[in-house]
Amino acid sequence: KKEVISFLKKKENPLILGGGTNILFKKNIKRSIIKIDIKGIKVTDLNKNQVKVNVGAGENWNDFVLWSLDHGYGGLENLSLIPGNVGSAPIQNIGAYGVELKDVFISCETVSIKNGLSRNFSNLQCRFSYRSSIFKEQLKNKYIICNVNFILTKKNHNVNFSYSSLKKILKENNITSPTIKDISKFVSKIRLEKLPDPKLIGNCGSFFKNPIVNRQKFIKLESSFKEIPFYKISNNELKIPAAWLIEKSGFKGKRFGSTGTYKSHALVIINYGNATGKEIYKFSQKIKQAVLRNFNILLEEEVNIIE
Ligand code: EPU
Repeated sequence: KKEVISFLKKKENPLILGGGTNILFKKNIKRSIIKIDIKGIKVTDLNKNQVKVNVGAGENWNDFVLWSLDHGYGGLENLSLIPGNVGSAPIQNIGAYGVELKDVFISCETVSIKNGLSRNFSNLQCRFSYRSSIFKEQLKNKYIICNVNFILTKKNHNVNFSYSSLKKILKENNITSPTIKDISKFVSKIRLEKLPDPKLIGNCGSFFKNPIVNRQKFIKLESSFKEIPFYKISNNELKIPAAWLIEKSGFKGKRFGSTGTYKSHALVIINYGNATGKEIYKFSQKIKQAVLRNFNILLEEEVNIIE
């Protein structure tokens, strides 16, 4: 943390980088970059049922998930194999297969970019929402997350396999009461089948958020597209998979120059190797326009785009 503060004193308007797995540079930048590399996983409190853990922002997310499983701690298993670092996880409230970071998050320790002062943010203060938090909205680029405090279970784990593809794969494997290790194993299996490994093919995971529409709009859509998939959010809100909207717009697995969407998942834009950030961005806007034309839905980017 001290090192971060001393860097901040020397550099003006730095770009703060975590794992770099959810970021698209539209062009080369001239600003200095501070790559957060704070390491360490420490158990800070332990009782019969739960454990509190303090983790350095620079720890790799999946390494932390594997560490928790090795110790028999529950809570992170559904979030297995998500690329990126621990410090970036609260910024976009990472989520997968029915669980979000906010479900295991206690607080984070940050440093203000402006004046180097330390500040703690509780779960409530982070204002977590679907793929977002105060650090992506009101306080965007204002604080650097240095450490994150988690609460995990030691026993009576809250095993969650409500997500349909997870439920399906467990059933196919005749697992009726999965352990946290089973959940991690099958979540990893689904991810490896559907999503490209960023180490092998450049990608940022889901490029757009799944849009949320009101009931009135949904009824209209359903009258034209009977098979439209959805998740109910509240009485008046439904979430529609952006992947479906993109696939129906004819973009799944399509290649345009050095970029395209992934063959097994239309929501993932990939770089075949030589695409510039500008090309990828242009392609993403083409997708956005097609979805707007076909469904009257404006997709919102999930990745961080650096101008
Ligand atoms: N679908 C299609 N075509 C496709 C892929 C999916 O039509 O090519 C439809 C299917 O109906 C499928 C539905 O989309 O049932 C949902 O697909 P999936 O289960 O893969 O989830 P997603 O909504 O596309 C979200 C997250 C992922 C997370 C998964 C699993 C967002 C923006 N994305 O994707 O997170 O792994 O759920 O929980 O919410 C990420 O944030 O980078 C990310 C990969």
